[in-house]
Amino acid sequence: MSSCVLVTGSAGFIGSHLTDRLLAKGFTVIGLDSLMLGRRENHKQALKNPDFTFIHEDLNNKVECFKKIQAAIQGRSLETVWHLAANSDIPKGMSDPSVDLTHTFMSTYHVLEVMKFLKVPNLVFASSSAIYGDRKDALSEESGPLFPISSYGAMKLASEGIITAALESYLKKVWIYRFPNVVGSRSTHGAIFDFVKKLRATPEILDVLGDGTQDKPYLHVSELIDAMAFAFEKSNDRLNFFNIGQESSSSTVKHMAELVVKQVSPKAKIRYAGGDRGWVGDVPAFKFSIEKIKRLGWSPKLTSNQALERAVREIAGES
Ligand SMILES: NC(=O)c1ccc[n+]([C@@H]2O[C@H](COP(=O)([O-])OP(=O)(O)OC[C@H]3O[C@@H](n4cnc5c(N)ncnc54)[C@H](O)[C@@H]3O)[C@@H](O)[C@H]2O)c1
Repeated sequence: MSSCVLVTGSAGFIGSHLTDRLLAKGFTVIGLDSLMLGRRENHKQALKNPDFTFIHEDLNNKVECFKKIQAAIQGRSLETVWHLAANSDIPKGMSDPSVDLTHTFMSTYHVLEVMKFLKVPNLVFASSSAIYGDRKDALSEESGPLFPISSYGAMKLASEGIITAALESYLKKVWIYRFPNVVGSRSTHGAIFDFVKKLRATPEILDVLGDGTQDKPYLHVSELIDAMAFAFEKSNDRLNFFNIGQESSSSTVKHMAELVVKQVSPKAKIRYAGGDRGWVGDVPAFKFSIEKIKRLGWSPKLTSNQALERAVREIAGES
């Protein structure tokens, strides 16, 4: 019996790149997305491939999801769910935490219910550095206690918990990946995306949240997908969990704003709102330890600034 995989959040920024990579590797892929944040055009390439099926559905419509996924499987076995669907708008979740509860936690809960019903053995989950909260030490998989400062981070941590509980019961294997800030083409959100949009609307001024000193490691989406695929192939424990990111370099928001201005509207002035963070729930600076995935044999080739430079060119070229 042939097999297939399901990607939730497939029309989003990272999910669409992952879908293309899985198709290129020869997998039959079912993509599912509510298009709440994702875009149909992110599937332009995938839709040309007969091994891709798209389901436009919200994971919170559990019964519809059961039916549509079962129909798309067409008698094959569903081996792995790559669960990326979530609310990626952190400020929105801070002003209305029910958004994160619904689209980050409950979407995970419903994915697990579907997996239990359809007897799917493997789950890969897109978690986040936000689960660690605002810590001064280099964030490693061993860091704790974990006190997230955004409802997004809280619902990601809660999702990790409900996933490991399911592993105790009906799942066979789980991969939890904690990403830092990921940048690149097909972005649906994020600072570069916002800066480009703002400059297109008002080419003479760029308003930046915070004072520009926020300092974080950025990873290009192509390298993230490499790492996700690499760790999936090379790690084979029941519970596999990795930070994926950049540890030897980071970039400031000031540098990012300057890169975008140079690319989009070189004469624009940059106006900082002030304050050490962009919004309530923003972790202004952190360092990531990627020792664990490095030991497995993966590390990024681009520095944080190189990842930003490439992403700025890509995102500016798209609008
Ligand atoms: N981009 C980053 O820097 C970053 C960092 C850490 C973790 N992550 C995680 O990686 C994953 C992908 O992020 P992204 O940047 O591609 O965000 P994204 O918003 O582009 O993609 C998420 C997708 O999920 C879909 N979605 C949301 N709720 C849904 C629901 N209830 N049912 C079905 N679809 C739903 C959205 O429409 C969107 O297409 C997310 O889980 C995110 O939390 C991203």
